[in-house]
Amino acid sequence: MISRETIEEVLLRTDIQTLIGGYVALKRAGSNVKGLCPFHSEKTPSFTVYPADNSFYCFGCGVGGDAISFVMKMENVDYPDAVQILAKRAGITVIDDSREKYSNGPKFDKERIYKMNVDAAKFFNAQLFRDNPDSRAALDYFTKERGLSLATVKHFGLGYAPNSYDAFSKYMLSRGYTYEELVVGFLAGKSERGGYYDAFRNRVMFPIIDVSGNVIAFGGRVMDDSKPKYKNSSDTPVFKKLRNLFALNFARHTCQETIILCEGYMDVIALHSAGFTNAVATLGTAITSEQARLMSRYTKRVLICYDADEAGQKAAQRALGMLEEVGLEVRVISIPGAKDPDEYIKKYGRDRFNDVLSAAKSKFEYNLQRILSRYDINIPQQKIDAIKDLAFMISEIYSSAERDVYIREVARRMGISYESLKSVVDSQVRKNAENKKKERDRKMQQEAVGYGDKVNPDYARAPDIAKHEERVLGLMLLFPEHREKVFREDLLCEEDFFTDLGKNIFNFLREACENGDERLVTISERFTPEQMGRIVEMKASRMQLDSNGTDVLLECINNLKAAVSEKRGENNNPMDRLNDLLKKKRGG
Ligand code: CTP
Ligand code: MN
Repeated sequence: MISRETIEEVLLRTDIQTLIGGYVALKRAGSNVKGLCPFHSEKTPSFTVYPADNSFYCFGCGVGGDAISFVMKMENVDYPDAVQILAKRAGITVIDDSREKYSNGPKFDKERIYKMNVDAAKFFNAQLFRDNPDSRAALDYFTKERGLSLATVKHFGLGYAPNSYDAFSKYMLSRGYTYEELVVGFLAGKSERGGYYDAFRNRVMFPIIDVSGNVIAFGGRVMDDSKPKYKNSSDTPVFKKLRNLFALNFARHTCQETIILCEGYMDVIALHSAGFTNAVATLGTAITSEQARLMSRYTKRVLICYDADEAGQKAAQRALGMLEEVGLEVRVISIPGAKDPDEYIKKYGRDRFNDVLSAAKSKFEYNLQRILSRYDINIPQQKIDAIKDLAFMISEIYSSAERDVYIREVARRMGISYESLKSVVDSQVRKNAENKKKERDRKMQQEAVGYGDKVNPDYARAPDIAKHEERVLGLMLLFPEHREKVFREDLLCEEDFFTDLGKNIFNFLREACENGDERLVTISERFTPEQMGRIVEMKASRMQLDSNGTDVLLECINNLKAAVSEKRGENNNPMDRLNDLLKKKRGG
């Protein structure tokens, strides 16, 4: 039995593009990447990876899913083995799954866990100032190695978890907490033989505090190069890492105009101590839509300030889309000559960082520069390739007026004529539309002949209803708030679905909601890669639409209910007629 937390951790730590890129040669196609499907033979790529959604789908053979589905299919292993393979790859040890039964058990008192966390934070902080070699080394790590002042250490409530199996737990027990509570709060673990141990050992500690000032979790870093570098609390009854941001409790006072979004705890701490108190970071994961929405409640503009490496730049691109989607103005900062903002501030000081901030680039500028950095435009062939890439980028912009502005700008910079660039872009726009149409046609053809729908055998019996189902499920799969609404207000039940696949997906969503699996990380355990393909497709076709609000959800639900009850009505009709006849006979 692998716990949900472990599965979640494994998925969060796996970059699907890198994973699949190890097996399949992938080429960029706009915001997605494509390649030749490893699961069926084909000459034109229909195997698509969606980095933003951490999923893949082959339009040709219908296989799809998350990283786990991919490994199951690719390595021909079952679910637990696939999780193990990915865990190993990400440097995660799959042990201690005892938390599960506690977190699924009786509800724990939030206030008590908050209080426990405060006591833990105080304990960790006090350890820094004790008179022993370990404690001195930890304090030195912060002050000497990382250059933090004592005031900063105090401000962020930093600490040290001693190098002991149970010193921390013992202390907490003496303060009246139980092992069960420590385990639920992710402060202790339970070994297979039934003993308990401290979750954080010999690590410097970063408490994570929410906007109401509650200590909700901890991150702990090793002081050398050993792995894993950080250990973070998994979700607990009081901690949903995908809904919180590090240091937002401080930043909220100064971020009305702008938030600086970084990758690391240390980046944020360095920025705050240099006076940039509007910096926040995600908690060891790529940014989520919940975090984007959280930011939109506090600010108007986000400056993405990620690490300079390729991983950081990829993540920045993903964050850009995520933040724009919630209506934030987004800019990207590049930090020349340093690997991350922390190093930059230390090397060049706060004034230079101010310059870097004001040189933040718009999405268009940023993409332009990323493309240009891949080519040497003094070489004609490379210049041509660069222009193709740029034309592709512009072709994906929806509004033609906006496209026109960028065509002018790029043509000017590349020293080519407006007309020639426009014709390249226009033909790419047509090609994009053709490709979309081809995909649609292929799907319609398959539907028309009811061909080979092994995944959803009921589809052919009522394609209209199945389509209504897919719309509703697509919305529910994509948006946690839609799921919550449906189940909270009891808007749908199993009987509202017609196909078995639809019923199964709906039931899974309900269970996931009840179990607090907000990211649906256990989905690939329930559905085969073939079924997962259908699920990814439902999401992908929904994602292309702009209208995904509550009103649309309600409309889709009504349409589904109407279609299903009409279908039932048809089926019942002969019976009704028979009943009528019988009644008449008896009466007559
Ligand atoms: N992270 C994590 N687990 C890891 C590595 C990283 O949770 N094994 C998270 C942490 O929240 C970290 C962030 O990802 O702060 C960014 O990672 P990285 O850039 O490696 O860390 P820094 O905070 O820059 O740490 P440092 O400067 O101390 O190396
Ligand atoms: Mn760093």
